[in-house]
Amino acid sequence: MTKSTGQLDNLTSIDNWQSIANGIWRCELGDISKEQCYSNLAVAPPRWDRINVLSPADFPFVSDVPSYQNKDGKITIRIPAEADEQLYGFGLQFDGLKKNKTVLTLNTDHWNKGGGRTHAPVPFYISSKGYGVFFNTARYLKVYCQIGNRKDSPNNPVPVDRNPVPETESIDPWQAVPQGDAVEGHIIGKGMEIIVFSGASMLDVVRRYNLYCGGGVLPPLWGLGFWHRVHAAFDADQTEAEVAAFNEKQFPLDVVGLEPGWMSSSYPCTFEWQKARFAEPDVLAKRLLEQGVRLNLWINPYVSPESRIHDEIYPYSGSHMVWLGLVPDYYMPQARRLLVEQHTKEHLNIGISGYKVDEVDGYDFWLWPDHATFPSGISGESMRQTYGLLMQNLLYKDLFKKNNQRTYGNVRSSNGGASGYPFVIYSDSYDHAQYIRGISAASLCGVLWTPEVRNAATAREWLNRMQTVCFSPMAKLNAWATGLHPWSFPEVEAAVRKVIQLRMRLLPYIYSAFADYHFNGVPPMRAMMLESEAIDINGTVVKGKLDSETDPYAMNTVMETTDQFMFGPSIMVAPFYGDKATERQVHLPSGKWYDFYSGQPVGSHTTFVIKAEVLNDQIPLFVKDGALIPMLSKNLLNTQGIQGCDLELRHYGTADGTFELYEDDGKSFDYEQGAYRIRTLSVTEQGLTETLSKDDAAALFGSVSLRRMS
Ligand code: GAL
Repeated sequence: MTKSTGQLDNLTSIDNWQSIANGIWRCELGDISKEQCYSNLAVAPPRWDRINVLSPADFPFVSDVPSYQNKDGKITIRIPAEADEQLYGFGLQFDGLKKNKTVLTLNTDHWNKGGGRTHAPVPFYISSKGYGVFFNTARYLKVYCQIGNRKDSPNNPVPVDRNPVPETESIDPWQAVPQGDAVEGHIIGKGMEIIVFSGASMLDVVRRYNLYCGGGVLPPLWGLGFWHRVHAAFDADQTEAEVAAFNEKQFPLDVVGLEPGWMSSSYPCTFEWQKARFAEPDVLAKRLLEQGVRLNLWINPYVSPESRIHDEIYPYSGSHMVWLGLVPDYYMPQARRLLVEQHTKEHLNIGISGYKVDEVDGYDFWLWPDHATFPSGISGESMRQTYGLLMQNLLYKDLFKKNNQRTYGNVRSSNGGASGYPFVIYSDSYDHAQYIRGISAASLCGVLWTPEVRNAATAREWLNRMQTVCFSPMAKLNAWATGLHPWSFPEVEAAVRKVIQLRMRLLPYIYSAFADYHFNGVPPMRAMMLESEAIDINGTVVKGKLDSETDPYAMNTVMETTDQFMFGPSIMVAPFYGDKATERQVHLPSGKWYDFYSGQPVGSHTTFVIKAEVLNDQIPLFVKDGALIPMLSKNLLNTQGIQGCDLELRHYGTADGTFELYEDDGKSFDYEQGAYRIRTLSVTEQGLTETLSKDDAAALFGSVSLRRMS
């Protein structure tokens, strides 16, 4: 299927590119029949219907894309990259989104290893020229981005004399790393699939990727409320007292997470209740649920010899153990069935809402070695690349979806194909600047990331971290080690309460943003570089006044800033962080921007410094001209009381605005059968109009009243 290329010696050009949908092409290198690929584990088949309504896009490469296999078994592809092309992505990388002139090893691991090793080393990159490349292989992938100069390439820079004789001037400076003209990537394996996504903008490319992976996740409404993980050694009474304290202090709370101490034995795990601490877990779960609070359980997947499923699962586990616990091979239906039966009986049936799946990312010293074997035949390497994904697939599909119940939880590793899974990645790293950057990085590769709060050196840091996390996919305090509460720093207690309340009031806006992720592939929280156009829930680019004339929010130049990001369609978030803590620079893209709190104009296409005192210690939020932001009209302590709640619709600036308000039952999968409705809210000078996509299904919110902010 390949032909030799006249241009580059010893290489063969791929000539089996197959167009599989509007703007998507694939090819196979070698034999992929026995290889594991990420898309096999995606939540659902590609959303062809949604992909095909995106604006058409051409195959991005005019020159050959060659591939070859070395004598030592490396399958290599060489994707052209021009000198002025910016390359971004390769997963949840906290050191920056731009990946020009880098070498990365995409290997599932803790973040602190760097060099490409991270919690979600998604082998997908996006080019500023409007395309993305997905190496759909669950192998360790080594990529050289514009690094390396083939001797037969016509695009190499001219060599420069590093030590010119005096008086002579070289035109270009000598470079330690001369510019390469390709992204070269290799695996050691039998074959790999490459998928190319094209698009009118980088956002379009990301949307195609997410839709190809089955669409983005639509979490249950309660999952978007506030989360608190109690101390690891807490018992049932302490957990209940904690919930009562939230209530008493008037802090919102939707989910309480239990850490390892809930289990009879952990590291490795039994998945059974620790009766000394939790004598009647069903009673606890019920009592909390009556108050609208759900329980989430910490687990890691490694099965303790003390677990009742240990002996039965033994034949379906890998050759090596982790913390002396079995590593189940969940590619095998027998292993899945055993875990699911146990989890259904002891967790799901008593009302457990979801899991935090820990320790699936690795660390060479305690994970299985790469040469470990598994009964399904999958390699130790591919198992490591997919274990987090596999756990998400198992829990989501076999446990929750089967029971028509949505879940939301955490996972410490993920990978390609994960867009549709209701699991948010977290880390032990804890650098606030990196945690903010993670929100942008996650948006480029179909994963969700929470900059969770654990501790802080000062009250100000506590507030800053709380503010950041309230504008992320999961607003969570993880007090497993510290036992802290949102009110633990009295100086900022009121400000922390206020931002959590704001998160709650924004739930209609946030939930609709997730619906846009689900139906149209638009990440709910996005890197600034993806900010270019407004898209409605049906996938149509909205060309209202907002985008007319000059299309004011389309940016000709890519905005690479990663300490600010988009939150839903029209709010830009710029958290305070780091040593300065109470002031920071804000970059406003073109188009008119307004202050979220006051509605006052703040500028257009400019950079300025903002100080916390000006905002009364609130998080800096900026809103687009014409933005409509639906908010609950009152404060809620959790989502239990959200049904029928009236909305205040804030309108900013002078332009007309439209918002697609999404409604369904907030908890089941009935929306997949059409049990949802969209209320199109439009505001002009004349006032507010509202149209319903259908009025028979799933009313969620009450009536809407307009509040003009400008
Ligand atoms: C860590 C995890 C923490 C906490 C802890 C409990 O691995 O990152 O969030 O769950 O384990 O032992």
